Formats: sequence, C-alpha cells, structure tokens
Amino acid sequence: MVTVFGLGFVGLTTALGFAHLGYGVYGVDVDEERKEKLRKGELPFLEPGMEEALQKHLDQNFHVTEDIPSAIAKSDCIFYCVGTPYGKDGSADLSYLFSAIDTTLEAIRDGKFRVMVTKSTIPPSTTAEKILPYVERRKKPFQQVGIANNPEFLREGHCWEDFLGADRIVLGVSEERSRKVLTDLYRPMGIPIKCVTPTTGEFIKYLSNTLLATMVSYSNEMAQLADTIGDIQTAEAFRILHMDKRWGGCTMTSYVYPGCGYGGYCLPKDTNALLAQARAKGSELPILREVIATNDRRAETVAKNIVKGRPQDTAIGILGLSFKPGSDDVRDTPAARILHALQDMGYKNLCAYDPEAMEEFAWHYPDLRLRFMGSAEEVYQAADVLAIVTAWEEFRSVKDLGSKPVADCRYML
Ligand SMILES: NC(=O)c1ccc[n+]([C@@H]2O[C@H](COP(=O)([O-])OP(=O)(O)OC[C@H]3O[C@@H](n4cnc5c(N)ncnc54)[C@H](O)[C@@H]3O)[C@@H](O)[C@H]2O)c1
Repeated sequence: MVTVFGLGFVGLTTALGFAHLGYGVYGVDVDEERKEKLRKGELPFLEPGMEEALQKHLDQNFHVTEDIPSAIAKSDCIFYCVGTPYGKDGSADLSYLFSAIDTTLEAIRDGKFRVMVTKSTIPPSTTAEKILPYVERRKKPFQQVGIANNPEFLREGHCWEDFLGADRIVLGVSEERSRKVLTDLYRPMGIPIKCVTPTTGEFIKYLSNTLLATMVSYSNEMAQLADTIGDIQTAEAFRILHMDKRWGGCTMTSYVYPGCGYGGYCLPKDTNALLAQARAKGSELPILREVIATNDRRAETVAKNIVKGRPQDTAIGILGLSFKPGSDDVRDTPAARILHALQDMGYKNLCAYDPEAMEEFAWHYPDLRLRFMGSAEEVYQAADVLAIVTAWEEFRSVKDLGSKPVADCRYML
C-alpha cells in the first residue's frame, strides 16, 4: 500500500502508475478543486493517456482520500510529490514538503516500519542535512521510519508513458530496510534500479535539468549570433548539426535547437535552485549563471525580433501560450515573458490563441492585457504581425493564410 502526497503531474502519475501495477494507492492533496475533479474522474490538466488510467483505477485501487491517518496506517511507503517552487534568492521552497512530512508524522499511530520517499525535486544534500534531522527531531519514539528520495524524470505531455517506461529508477537511500522496501515496490516494472546515496539521488536530477537548460541557452546564444552575422539559415544549420551520427537521431536534439528560451515548471526553478545552493555552499557556477542569464534575456530579444522597430500601435498576434506543445501548462511559460517584454516596450495591442492553454494563461497572468481569439485564423485577421511562440503543429499552416509577416520564434516553418 502506498500513500502519495500531491496529485499534480508527478503525484497523480505516480499514484496511478502504482495503481496500474496492482498496489493499493491513497492520494492526498490540499487543493479542493483538484480533488473534486479527480473524484469525478476528470484530469485537472492535459496529459495524454492519463484520463483513461484515472477512470480505470479510481475507487478501485486508487482513492483520493481525506482520511490521512487511515491511509498512512495501511501504507508501507509514503511518496511526497508536492511542489518545490522558487523560494527567496531562487532557492527551492521546501515548505510544502515539510508540511506534508508534518502531516505524515501526526498521522502515524503505530510502530510499523514505513519509508518516507521524496519524489519532488530537492537540492542535493536536502535529505541528509534537512529532512533526516527534521524527522529525527519530530518523530515520536515509537515511530519507525526510513527516509529516501526517488527523483522523477518524466516529461509533461508524456507523463504516463515516461513513468511506466522510465529509463531508470533512481533510489537515494542510505539504509538497508528502506532499500529493500523500495526495490521490492519497483521490481515488477522490470526497469533498471540504481541505488545511490540520498545526496547522489538528488544531484542526478539537477545534473539532468541543468544540462538540458545549458543546451537550450547554448542554442539560443548561437541563434542570436547567427542573426547578428546575418545570411545564416539558422534552423537548417541546427538540423544539419543533428545529422551527426554521434547524436544517433536521439530526441535530446530537441534541446539543441533555438527557440524562446526554456520555460515550464522545472528548468527555470531547478537551475536557479542549484545556483542558489552552490552559492550558499561557497561555490560559484559561472556556466550555470550564464545559462540562466541567457535565458532571462531571451524574451526581450525575441520580443524585439517580433516587432522589428514597428510603431507601438502595431497589432501583434501571439500563436501559442503553453510552455510547450501538447501541454496546457503555462507555469513560467516563455509566452508570458515575451508578452511582458512587449508590454514593457509599449506594445499594448496584443491578441493570442492557443489550442489548449488560454484558460490557464488568463488565470495565471491576470496582469497581461490581451485579447484571446478562437483560432489562428482569427489572430491572423486581427494582427499586423504574428509570432509563433509555442510549436503546436497546427501553426505550420499559418503561412498559408496570407502574406502578413510571421516571426517564427520556434524555427518551425
Ligand atoms: N512537472 C514535471 O514535469 C516534473 C518532472 C519531474 C519532477 N518534478 C518535480 O515534482 C514536484 C511536483 O511537480 P508537479 O509538476 O507535479 O507539481 P504540481 O504543482 O502539478 O503538483 C503539486 C501538488 O501538490 C499539492 N500539495 C501542495 N502541498 C501539499 C501538501 N502539504 N499535502 C498534499 N498536497 C500538497 C498541490 O496542491 C498540487 O496539487 C516538483 O518538485 C517538481 O520539480 C516535476
């Protein structure tokens, strides 16, 4: 039996994934609206393949519960999949995690051994330096708990397939009892399990995300240089770069490609969190610092490329608001940064269309004044200049609509 705290992209996938494997799973969240939707069998976000899984397992071996003590009483593992957003100085805000840990410790009423597993992304050494001492201090003498982490590598838009078909399962675990419980839990998946120290487990996740961010910023810096030099077919140059057999046609090449800068929930916060942590430990990371700075500058560069010095009353039509196609997630989306940059430059005549993310965008960015349109065609009619900001496939045909200028900020046409 498993309890999962946090039923967002990672937590809901984890909960349904374990239910799919035949375990009994209790899901806990603090967001009433989210739980209400889930109880009706509706996903709170766009995620292919997950609604079917939810409807199949809901009230069978997956329960969205309010009765935390009885969920914990039956569980051998408790997974924490709560958010770890930007805190002060870019550092990871661990308050949701510690709140869920408090709830767990308050709920444990017996001496059964349980493993408390952090799946949320937490900076290296958090388990050893913060979670372990915290739990040691707060737990009651009869409570038997192991502490571990288990970083998650899924991609939004592919959560379900990435969880069930993960490349590897990383367990950051320092004692034998927890290692055994967790390896037994995951073994039926038939995926390689790598047991490392808790700090190594945490570090691997940041190795991954900071490298992805570095590839994006490198690509954007090179694209900017190409613009400065001129007469360079930037998209073609990158595609030819990808033909190198050392890439082996891998999907990683999608990060070695210019665009609007990295966005979404993870890369912006994780790059900042690692930089903040390095500084706190007295270490400077000049490459990572510049990766972040390049990304921070990208929105303004893209905004300038869109308007190309046109007058401030130019009607600008933005195509795409989500941080990537196939998703309605707008957290830290480049579209918001670009729209803010346009507004700051004095451009107020803004309209936009996204096939999935307009409602989410309006809710997250009430300060942005723009008109939401019903289609790319409507944007075309209303705007003097268009900009493709999210690479939704349907935007490939925008050039067939007529001869108005289109800024191809995703290098996809
Ligand atoms: N989204 C991704 O692609 C992805 C991939 C890998 C790792 N991660 C990491 O996983 C973690 C979760 O990310 P996410 O995208 O799933 O976040 P999310 O915002 O979609 O979900 C987090 C959920 O936790 C809930 N929550 C907050 N405090 C709680 C508490 N005390 N008790 C119970 N529930 C609580 C929230 O209401 C929310 O539903 C983060 O650390 C993130 O960095 C995310």
